[in-house]
Amino acid sequence: MIDRRTFLAGASALALHPLLAAEEERRMLARTIPAGNEAMPVIGFGNSSAFRDNDYETSSALLDVLRETGGRFIDIHGDSEIPVGRYMKQHEVHAQFFIGTNVGAAKGMPPDARLLASQDRQGKKPLDLLLLSRPADPQRQWPQMRRWKEQGLARYIGLAATGDAFFAPFENLIRGGTVDFIEINYSLLEPAAGERLLPLAMDHGVAVVVNRPFVNGRYFPLVSGKALPAWAADFDCASWAQFSLKYIIANPAVTCVITETSKPHHARDNLGAGFGRVPDDDQRARMLNLVNSL
Ligand SMILES: NC(=O)c1ccc[n+]([C@@H]2O[C@H](COP(=O)([O-])OP(=O)(O)OC[C@H]3O[C@@H](n4cnc5c(N)ncnc54)[C@H](OP(=O)(O)O)[C@@H]3O)[C@@H](O)[C@H]2O)c1
Repeated sequence: MIDRRTFLAGASALALHPLLAAEEERRMLARTIPAGNEAMPVIGFGNSSAFRDNDYETSSALLDVLRETGGRFIDIHGDSEIPVGRYMKQHEVHAQFFIGTNVGAAKGMPPDARLLASQDRQGKKPLDLLLLSRPADPQRQWPQMRRWKEQGLARYIGLAATGDAFFAPFENLIRGGTVDFIEINYSLLEPAAGERLLPLAMDHGVAVVVNRPFVNGRYFPLVSGKALPAWAADFDCASWAQFSLKYIIANPAVTCVITETSKPHHARDNLGAGFGRVPDDDQRARMLNLVNSL
């Protein structure tokens, strides 16, 4: 084990290297995926309408922002993998981008052939992550997810939803020890998952992807026209979007948060939240009080 003197000598040597410090500042904050020991930058993309509409020009502009800022995670539903897959092939960014492919919602579990088609469209064999989305019967559907992982169709498997009705079923499956990821809503306006679900996920080595950071846009009318508090600069926060995102990523259980937009300048603002400092516990309590008072 490293002793205190060696640690301090190493730390002061690092402090003497401005080039190293500058390199760190340029890189987006990342967390480790517990089941795979690989790095995940903390801000990613949701399933933008540009992807769903197969609007390649806008999708491409958005994905340029993700690539340039060092982001990784993209949440995919159905045909939205078409423009994303095309972009990954065009720019050869399969290693940088990490795709969460949602299955199981509405139309039920897809046939294996559908997943093989996804592998072709994404150019990823195996797929990175299969997410069982808004499952009607998680206990019954989960064994199929495990079979797909055992067959090598995907590297990781997980559960995705929005709403506290899913907390208890997700907790039960997490306790079973075979869940690699959960995706759930958690934010200043919807903090409930932070009470039990997120700490449980962290204890069981389950990566957490947070969705609905802006409650599907409902957050912005609350803060619109209001000045960002001066103390937000203490954690390098430059906009109301970053105020929400920094609150989320400061929770150590969170692996990354996904943001939905079809506007590249909003994407740049959002990804910017992954750089610089994050709020400490006192600052987070102050953020929550402020938003609750609006
Ligand atoms: N599996 C599930 O059950 C499930 C459920 C819900 C969500 N999700 C995933 O989570 C993702 C995100 O959740 P969400 O759809 O609720 O979206 P969200 O990210 O909470 O909010 C999106 C809204 O915020 C606006 N916005 C984004 N960035 C902004 C910025 N910097 N400044 C001002 N406005 C901004 C967007 O408008 P503009 O387009 O104008 O920027 C849009 O109206 C979804 O895309 C989806 O992939 C999954």
